[in-house]
Order: sequence, then C-alpha cells, then structure tokens
Amino acid sequence: MYPNYKEGAMVSRRELLHKVGTIGLASGISSVAIPAMIAGGAAGRTSAETASDEVYWREIQQAFTLDRTFINLNNGFASPSPRVVHEALKRYLDLSNEAPYTYMAQMLEPGIESVRRGIAAEADCDAEEIAITRNSSEALQIAQLGIDLKPGDEVIITNQDYGRMITTWEQRVRRDGIKLTKISFPVPVPGGHAELAARIEAAITPRTRVIHFCHITNLTGQIFPVQRIARMARARGIKTIVDGAHAFAHFPYSLRELECDYYGVSLHKWLLAPIGNGFLYVRRENIRSTWSLQPALPALDDNIRKFEEIGTHPAANHNAVAEALKFHQAIGCERRAARMRYLRARWQDRLEKLPTVKILTSRDPAQSCGLAMFTVAGIPAEKISRQLWDKHRIVAISIVHPEFEGIRVTPNIYTTLDEIDTFAEAVERIVRAESRDPA
Ligand SMILES: Cc1ncc(COP(=O)(O)O)c(C=O)c1O
Repeated sequence: MYPNYKEGAMVSRRELLHKVGTIGLASGISSVAIPAMIAGGAAGRTSAETASDEVYWREIQQAFTLDRTFINLNNGFASPSPRVVHEALKRYLDLSNEAPYTYMAQMLEPGIESVRRGIAAEADCDAEEIAITRNSSEALQIAQLGIDLKPGDEVIITNQDYGRMITTWEQRVRRDGIKLTKISFPVPVPGGHAELAARIEAAITPRTRVIHFCHITNLTGQIFPVQRIARMARARGIKTIVDGAHAFAHFPYSLRELECDYYGVSLHKWLLAPIGNGFLYVRRENIRSTWSLQPALPALDDNIRKFEEIGTHPAANHNAVAEALKFHQAIGCERRAARMRYLRARWQDRLEKLPTVKILTSRDPAQSCGLAMFTVAGIPAEKISRQLWDKHRIVAISIVHPEFEGIRVTPNIYTTLDEIDTFAEAVERIVRAESRDPA
C-alpha cells in the first residue's frame, strides 16, 4: 500500500486500461489460452487417471521455457514459472518502468487486492487474513518477531525447521531472553502423525507461548498433522506458527481447517509464481496483537495490510501471482499432487530395490507428497550429488543434518518421465560404481 497514492493528478482509469490492454496484446500471448487448453485436457477425468497420462502432461511441460540439457530436480529451491506467468511479469515490469508513480503505484499496485482475494479463495480463508509478502522468510519472521514475548517465555520448534527460521528464534533468545526448545524426530517417523504430535506435546510447559513447525519439511518432505497440533495448542492458549513454504499449491488443504494462528508461504516454489512472492496468513483475532516488521500507522492496527508496509517495491511481482493462480487452477491442486506422487513413486520404486539405499520419506500420502529424500549407506550424500551433476548434468542437492543426511529430490510438473528415469539410472550407476570402488 502506498500511503499517498491517491494524492496528486490521477490518470483516468480508461487511459490506464487502454495502456495495459495495448501491452497485453503486444506480447502476442493470450493469458487464458494455455490454462484453458490444460483444463480442457483433463475434463471429466480423475486426478489418478491424469497422473500417468503423458499426453496431458506434455502440454504442461511445453508451457515452460527451460534448458533441457540438464535435469532440474531442485524445484524445492524455487521453480521456473510457466511462460504465461513470466510474460505477465515482464509486461508489468516494462509498464512500471515507463512511469513508476503513475503506472506502477497508481495503476498496478491496487492489483494486489485481486491477488489477495485469489490466494484466499485457493487457500480457503478470508482475504482480510492474507498479507502478500516477498517470501516465506518475511512472512514467518513477521509472526516470529511480531508476537510479544517476555523473558522466560518458551517457544517449541523442531530441529528440522528451516535454518533461517531457527536463526530468527535464536535471535529472540539473545535479545529478549526467551527459551527455545527444539524437539527431534526420526526420518521417517515410525509412529507417524501421532508420534509427531506426542513429541511436541511432551515439550509443552506452563511457560510455552508458541509452537512453530513445518507443514511439510524441506528436508525429507515429512508432512505434519497441523490441525491436531493447532487444536492441542489452542486448548492451552498457545499460538501456532506453521511454515507452509513447501505446502501451498503442492498438495491440497484448507487453511480454515488447519486452524493454526499464522501460516507462511513462498509462492515461487510450488505455485510457480515469479521469484520474490509469498504470503502470510494471520488468523483474524491475532492481527491487532501482532507487530508488523516495518512499522505502520495505528489506523492500520486491525488491518492485515499493515504487514505490507514495505516501502517502494515492484508491483510486477505480486501482480503476476494472479496469472500463476490461473495456471495452477487450470490443472487443479489434486491433479498436481497426484502427478507429483506419481513422479516420486517412479524413482523411488527403482532406487529402493538397491540394498544400500534407504528412503527417508514415508510412503503414506498423509505424510508426504512429491518432495522426498534418499540416503545410500557408505556413500556421502555430497559425493552422490556432485557426481550426479559432474557426470550426468542432474541437479539434486545433498542435505546434511546433524541426525541424518541424504539427497533431496524435487521434480515438478514440467519434469518428464524420461528425466526421472535418467536420474534413477544415474543413481544406480553411481551406487554400483562406488560399491566396487569405495575409495
Ligand atoms: C521450510 C522452509 N521454510 C522457509 C523457507 C524460506 O523460503 P524463502 O527463501 O522463499 O523465504 C524455505 C526455503 O527453502 C523452506 O524450505
């Protein structure tokens, strides 16, 4: 929100619309053509039926401009956007650069309200509970640093939370004297959701004020029972902050049903939005008591927009989210999740036949989706990752955690079966070669 964007000479709405219309046509791409084609291809079929329909997914693979000389299995970092989304971003950037105040602040910036509504509809919550942010780090830090805590107050996290989020709590330990309790859990966790909830519950004390955990971890892709933990916390007056960086648009859920207090997301991961997009959900009753990272006027105390007072910023980024939502909805989140599970089963079925390979992600669909990790006994993960790139031009990162290590595999809906098979074969070769020559 620009505090004074209503001041000064306004360009007429008709002039502005004319300007955008011209730019849209000049790009030569209709923003609805590709999503409409994709939606048409799946008409009347279940997500299980389309998961293995290569003709259907071919259409989606073609919607991206990629370098296919290498295989990108690190979409967990950030995903390429489909062309139609990237075109929207470029169009809005070009327009902004012509007249930043008039075209960007006056005309494009109000588009954030459509994005807010679109996100809220997709996530199933009230639009007045959604703040548009630049990533999950910012979203989660607003919650982590915005909740009043006194010295001695306790926060429970897991030791598999995202590094920056742990660092943020650790700063509050140094600055505010709070106490941080980190729980641990095995991967995969033998007792599933019940064990995860029980481990958190066992760490609660009368001083616990906040529980922070991932909806799905970025390490092994373990999905947490958010509603169960949120209910347990609420019954004790404890706030829940859920890191949904990898959850939104990866698999379906309803924010309303999760019942947590705060939920942070990166939209440049699974929604395929341009890099530099995220959102924060704040349950309505918490808006007033949560301080914004960058101060806002008291008039905004109860307004979710107080978390968007970030100064001059590109409107192009957040407005292109509207296009990413259309692309996502043309496929449908159920269909996307089913495909992600199908791709993951394709490599997992093969690799788990190797005696030294262990999959660190549960097969249970309630506990995982398309992000998974494997480890190979006797071969450092870093060595496998390096060989995948050096010898096979495959990107799959190694992750070393104090309690386990492995290769994280994150394909995306543009990934072809052939790419998955090439990856599985490359791992088989590395494992065989290294087992013969472990030096
Ligand atoms: C679980 C988790 N939380 C938070 C983040 C931070 O996301 P961003 O870098 O988009 O702010 C990430 C990034 O990968 C993540 O995996």
